[in-house]
Amino acid sequence: MKTITVTVNGAVYEETVSERMLLVDFLREQLALTGTHVGCTYEGVCGACTICLDGEAVKSCLMLAVQADGHSITTVEGLAGDKLTPLQQAFIENHGLQCGFCTSGILMNMSEFLEKNPNPSDDDIRHGLIGNLCRCTGYVHIVKAVRAAAAVGR
Ligand code: FES
Ligand code: FES
Repeated sequence: MKTITVTVNGAVYEETVSERMLLVDFLREQLALTGTHVGCTYEGVCGACTICLDGEAVKSCLMLAVQADGHSITTVEGLAGDKLTPLQQAFIENHGLQCGFCTSGILMNMSEFLEKNPNPSDDDIRHGLIGNLCRCTGYVHIVKAVRAAAAVGR
């Protein structure tokens, strides 16, 4: 067991974890932040577990919790303040989700994407979504939502 200190959504946590615990399990099971999902049994394929680590979108099933020691994490629970972000609002207004299982990971990935690409083309958006699988939407409305968010400045 090892004690780690991580900042998650602005709050500092000092927690004792197994060296083998995955970051996604730490977030979901130890911190009860269940907005981060597991869609592909920890294979790094689906992107449902995407979070931001020090501002970079990463798949939290591909990291150990101990690797987050000393780092700052944002999960989907930390995106909105008093109101939804323009990206979250755009997903609602453009029907960017159906079942919603993929949505938290896509929001985290596209939040980072729009930070780096404030004026993306549809091809840029589709390329940015390569690491996120959605079984419901066919992606058309997801791309539309990201485009709409870019238009209003994330
Ligand atoms: S659960 Fe991490 S990529 Fe699927
Ligand atoms: S909205 Fe259902 S998996 Fe994407």
